[in-house]
Amino acid sequence: MVDFHTHILPGIDDGSRDVELSLQMLYEELKNGVDHVVFTPHFYADHDSIDNFLKRRERSCRKLMAEIESDEELSRIKYAFGAEVYYFGGIGNAADVRKLCILDTDILLLEMPFCQWTDAMYEDVAKLIRKQKLTIILAHIERYIDFQKKKDVWDRIFELPVIPQMNAGPFMDWKRRRKVLKLADAQEMILLGSDAHNMDSRKPNLAAACSWIQKKLGEEFLSGQERLEQQLLGV
Ligand SMILES: [Fe+2]
Repeated sequence: MVDFHTHILPGIDDGSRDVELSLQMLYEELKNGVDHVVFTPHFYADHDSIDNFLKRRERSCRKLMAEIESDEELSRIKYAFGAEVYYFGGIGNAADVRKLCILDTDILLLEMPFCQWTDAMYEDVAKLIRKQKLTIILAHIERYIDFQKKKDVWDRIFELPVIPQMNAGPFMDWKRRRKVLKLADAQEMILLGSDAHNMDSRKPNLAAACSWIQKKLGEEFLSGQERLEQQLLGV
């Protein structure tokens, strides 16, 4: 199983603070049956340039991979590098965002704003897909829905060929699980991600959510996810 959304790289964002915590999180991924981890640290265009971000990511990766190489169990996991790119006005025309795709793929994990979505946001997402020919994974879609008092832009964005990603956590929260299950069921398919940041409140947690979703939505829903994972990363 692939975890497409993680903040496990050390010292680069509000996720893991150091290598030791990153290693603990990777062991937790193994316990959850994850054999492929995509590192997706936050990228904010108003705080950082793409090239500087890539240098910081490279430094963080080097530190962590040096430890992983000497660890037999963690060496069995496959690793991929990407980013969780926060939306900015004009992103649809920013050709160098391609550098933030997962490895050499055309797959970009896009975090949308936590507000009412606008026509301009729709246009940018559409340009990323149609003009820049990127495959867009929309990060944790369950976190935006309460802001969409008007659903027209939301509906139009989901008519685009975007891949909706949902976090595992809300499926395990009895107060939220009904609502997120309904949202998942309304999608043709979703990617599950842990969006893990630490070993406390937001730890790697795909296994429990997977089995619960499987119980509620059936085997087919998850086998669809597996097919999508293979298609996306060739694993
Ligand atoms: Fe995230």
